[in-house]
Amino acid sequence: MAKEKVISKPSINEARLRQKLMPIRDFDLFTSKTIEEFAKGKKFYIRTYGCQANMRDEEIVAGILQKAGFTKTDKAIDADFIMLNTCAVRENAEDKVLGELGTLKALKASNKDLIIAVSGCMSQQEHIIDMLLLKYPQVDLILGTHNIHKIVELIDIHLRDNCRVIDVKARPLEIVEKLPSIRNSKHKAFVNISYGCDKFCTYCIVPYTRGQERSRPQEEILNECRELVNSGYQEITLLGQNVNSYGKDLKSDITFAKLLESVANLGIPRLRFLTSHPFDFSDSIIEVMRRHDNIMKYFHLPVQSGNDQILKAMGRRYTREKYLEIVSKLRTQIPEIAISTDIIVGFPNETESQFADTVTLVKEARYESAFTFIYSPRPGTPAARLVDNVDKKEKSARFKVLTQALEETIAASSKAMVNKTYTVLVDGWSKKDKQVLSGYSESNKLIHFKGDESLIGKIVRVRVLESHVYSLMGELVND
Ligand code: 5AD
Ligand code: SF4
Repeated sequence: MAKEKVISKPSINEARLRQKLMPIRDFDLFTSKTIEEFAKGKKFYIRTYGCQANMRDEEIVAGILQKAGFTKTDKAIDADFIMLNTCAVRENAEDKVLGELGTLKALKASNKDLIIAVSGCMSQQEHIIDMLLLKYPQVDLILGTHNIHKIVELIDIHLRDNCRVIDVKARPLEIVEKLPSIRNSKHKAFVNISYGCDKFCTYCIVPYTRGQERSRPQEEILNECRELVNSGYQEITLLGQNVNSYGKDLKSDITFAKLLESVANLGIPRLRFLTSHPFDFSDSIIEVMRRHDNIMKYFHLPVQSGNDQILKAMGRRYTREKYLEIVSKLRTQIPEIAISTDIIVGFPNETESQFADTVTLVKEARYESAFTFIYSPRPGTPAARLVDNVDKKEKSARFKVLTQALEETIAASSKAMVNKTYTVLVDGWSKKDKQVLSGYSESNKLIHFKGDESLIGKIVRVRVLESHVYSLMGELVND
């Protein structure tokens, strides 16, 4: 199928632009005779890479496809429509997708009617689209992050015109509400509160691939959360690239702290939020967390580096001192708080001593958990234009040193949990042992314990007996 229909293509220059007003409209399902006929008995499979925003997009696409008459399958081999929902935050995330497309080529050879789509952050980059068109003929459909709700319409065009279809908007044009979805869990749910990011950290591709920061109307968020509470959900995680700046684009006095409090008041047993940018942190968030027992005492606060010059070069808008001040406020005002972070090692030209500042910050902050990454240049970002004098071997060595420092503080916090009892929301059987259940504590620590299937989806009490760096072993407390 050589023909191509290009409806739209992204452009990084346009993706940089920000506009004031973002219209809001309700979702309407596209239907046509072609789709009705085609969807009958057809199965779809979606594979998602990357962050929770992508996972939520997967749930939405699944909901839309189901409404259009398709059926969900968990096996790529059974599917008639496969979508790879991609991530572009680091090069290794992109490499995984390209590898998977290689595997799918073989699948397509044995089923020529199979439709393969690529969506998500990778698609939002011009050079990726050019590469997919040139080197990956197995890809039939390319759509972006701003038009996933158009999935059925794009399949329709592909079927009717018998061609490859490319529709990737350079920037968001609207906020779409009342989107259907099939949630991946029956007890834990993600709820978007805002889309996109306006921070433009110099290393990061997200402000281009996910576009302008736009907050959903509070009422829409509360309605979605209310429905989740009514259907028995035990945990909601409010999602945004930077939840702390929620509402800043809306013409009202709503803030993240106020929204958080309103959601907490709906009575969900557990409430979490992700991700907080230190620049937009406000003390009122601590006050709300203190007032509500159902807001989990866990705070993900990416630091990225412990050195002021690197923080400046990253465009992070805070100093090491300011960051540690927030950590200290959190720890003194919410004694049971667990703090986690994201750290990038090997930003261009990071010196040995600048890296050493990150290691000392880790020791001062005493993180309960952390995600660490080696810097990956992202084409089009300001940092990618810098000439880097640190080689790969040195970056890997620093990564190991940092991992070790983190493991010490993480292991210490896990050890301190031994012989104490915690509430755990039971997710399901442990990946390694089918006799053992696992779930997360309020502080987001993974705890394993023996129990029966009826506990899945429930909040139980577990006494911790043994600690490892990244997980704990405990026993059910029946009281
Ligand atoms: N290279 C390495 N890590 C990155 N992150 C974002 N962009 C890059 C990049 N270019 C990390 C940051 C962010 C997390 C989601 O991914 O730490 O907080
Ligand atoms: Fe990327 Fe920075 Fe926005 Fe986070 S805050 S998504 S790191 S630009």
